[in-house]
Amino acid sequence: MTPMAKVFDYAEIVKHNTAESCWVILYGNVYDVTDFISDHPGGSKVILQLAGTDATEEYDPIHPPGILEQTLKPEAKLGTINPDTLPSTGKSPAETSGAVDGPVDLESLLNLNEIEEVATKQISQKAWAYYFSASDDLTSKTFNNTVYRQIVLRPRVFVDCVKCDTSTSFLGHNVKLPLYVSPAAMARLAHPDGEWGIAQACAQYGAMQLISQNASMTPEQIVADAKEEQVFGWQLYVQTERAKSEAALARLKKLPAIKFVCLTLDAPVPGKREHDERAKNIASNLPVRSAVQEGGSTSKTDTDAKTPAPKAMGVGQSLFWGTAADLTWDRTLPWLKKHTDLPIVLKGVQTHEDAYLASLHAPHIKAIILSNHGGRALDTAPPAIHTLLEIRKYCPEVFDRIEVWVDGGIKRGTDIVKALCLGARGVGIGRAALFGLGAGGKEGVARVLEILKAETETCMRLLGVERVDELGMQHINARAVEREIYDGPAALERPSPWSKAKAKL
Ligand code: LAC
Repeated sequence: MTPMAKVFDYAEIVKHNTAESCWVILYGNVYDVTDFISDHPGGSKVILQLAGTDATEEYDPIHPPGILEQTLKPEAKLGTINPDTLPSTGKSPAETSGAVDGPVDLESLLNLNEIEEVATKQISQKAWAYYFSASDDLTSKTFNNTVYRQIVLRPRVFVDCVKCDTSTSFLGHNVKLPLYVSPAAMARLAHPDGEWGIAQACAQYGAMQLISQNASMTPEQIVADAKEEQVFGWQLYVQTERAKSEAALARLKKLPAIKFVCLTLDAPVPGKREHDERAKNIASNLPVRSAVQEGGSTSKTDTDAKTPAPKAMGVGQSLFWGTAADLTWDRTLPWLKKHTDLPIVLKGVQTHEDAYLASLHAPHIKAIILSNHGGRALDTAPPAIHTLLEIRKYCPEVFDRIEVWVDGGIKRGTDIVKALCLGARGVGIGRAALFGLGAGGKEGVARVLEILKAETETCMRLLGVERVDELGMQHINARAVEREIYDGPAALERPSPWSKAKAKL
């Protein structure tokens, strides 16, 4: 762009609102995207809906920074917009910037609920609805949290509790906290720091981060400033067009900071998320594509052509468009082995039967995450704590074969400690990290980790425990929850001792 770049009035832009001549305003610049419409990985319709308008607000949070320059030819940039000619958004400057009453004093926020409250005021209605939403009546989402209140702690006294060490390891990688950030999508809906900001906070506290396949930044951008010792996993939602997933997996080979693939199984289809659906708008009305696919896939196949997108849907539903629902133990794991050497973590196990089956695939599968997808998939599915207790009851050998991680409902350090006492290696936080971002960018996420670390240490000290590996069943009374867990037949296909003996003969 030369200093002589043409300056357009808005009245001129609005005329170019068709597939034959499609202009959009992005970040104060005017682009002619007519030639790009059919190549858009998220489909052509979404561009056409924004044709002739300022699309910045819709475009920005769901596209990785820099992708515009990489994708469009230089001549597509026609000039700049005269801002005085833009129509009023009807929003106050505070609403536009997202700020409420000036900068937030993060130190004054003492717990995760207070952070969520501030973030709720700061972020857009669409972002809030997407993050907050869960399926149907939000039963599982609520239960994920309240189940921890049913477990009682058993503090020991007269124990030297001066020292406290929260460090542990995941899949052999050392970390400072038994806590990681779960693969939660679209972080830049909350704050421009996005997933990169989460990575900075994780670096500060030595926490592991799982990168969402639907992240709003590319994996390269997210790990760009990672410290040597930082540990990342990458979430895989296998795509109907397998070539897209294969390309994404191939791309991970160049990112040594990513240590494993987290195959997500708890949501082959999204649950019915009414908050999200209600907040639907032009951008969420049509499919968007994840950062990894936008930057990584060279495939020109436009799924739009084959499958018409559903008409009205929330952000969640649009993200799920293209996700494969035909995964199975016997087909998907061998396929995965062909395309990545990274260890596999299975996310979304909700019964002891599936935990047991996963354990039979060790060492290819190195860990499972007991998760009901934050209550966003099947409402009234059990909280991870139920599944954890089920595994203890029916097939405790799972803990010897693979690591067991849990997520959902974590709001306090005591929640983390209780999960560890029951045998979890660590716990994931999803919404909490996003709301941290919404409250204060990367510093907000750091505040979330700071609070949870401090609360975990206090809990451990008051239990009389110095290291996380000392935590065990003796530190809790979980009988109230044990009474509620599944009590039916085990349904495990264990090799019988007789068949083993016969095989030896
Ligand atoms: C969700 C997906 C994208 O729950 O993980 O919205």
